[in-house]
Amino acid sequence: MKVIVTENKIQGGAKAFEIFEKGIKDGAKTLGLATGSTPETLYQNWVKSDLNCENLTSINLDEYVGLTPDNPQSYHYFMQKHLFDKKPFKKTYVPDGMAKDVAAYCKQYDQIIKENPIDIQLLGIGRNGHIAFNEPGTPFDIGTHEVKLTKNTIKANSRFFDNEDEVPKSAICMGTANIMQSKKIVLMAFGEKKAHAVKEMIEGPITEDVPASILQKHPDVTVIVDKAAAQELDDKYKN
Ligand code: GLP
Repeated sequence: MKVIVTENKIQGGAKAFEIFEKGIKDGAKTLGLATGSTPETLYQNWVKSDLNCENLTSINLDEYVGLTPDNPQSYHYFMQKHLFDKKPFKKTYVPDGMAKDVAAYCKQYDQIIKENPIDIQLLGIGRNGHIAFNEPGTPFDIGTHEVKLTKNTIKANSRFFDNEDEVPKSAICMGTANIMQSKKIVLMAFGEKKAHAVKEMIEGPITEDVPASILQKHPDVTVIVDKAAAQELDDKYKN
């Protein structure tokens, strides 16, 4: 894993954008995209750039079950607001949180990923080491699935809602197997609350208890962290 430590999340977002821009100029056509507060600085750089996205396809990692695309808390809404409204893509996919038959829909989403192999996958990380919504204990070999969110994740994500009770209890989420099939992965993490998860991901054993640890097995992962998120890492990673 290549680790890049930046001063802060502004610089981290700029660095991540450089990687995406280069990848796209080098021919990447399908991007795996992520939500959360972490990628915001990347998307800020993206929308103010002159990068043309009209030939790109995007596939998002996850969506809450039960939220309509026009719900401001939905990941659909987030993507429109932070990127797609300003940078139109050829085609964008975000899981349908309103799907009637969630299990069948998950199979459909796997098919979409199969037909559009992901060139560059963007990831954040949860405080417990989750990627997308693959919580600790999720098998490494599954594809898109419905996830029951853990109490910790509901609590962490409640900051975007009026109160904890409003946070959906489950989500549709790409599996670790989908993520590992992408050609290149860029993971961003900022702030001291992510420091322990970052250490476990990079230096800890590969275990389903820390879903992000599987990334140690991927041949092309770049981790962009600010100093606060890097604070528990071995000195050799602090450039
Ligand atoms: C959520 C998302 C993840 C995200 C994580 C961290 O649970 N499903 O994709 O990486 O939280 O979020 P944040 O970037 O807001 O810290």
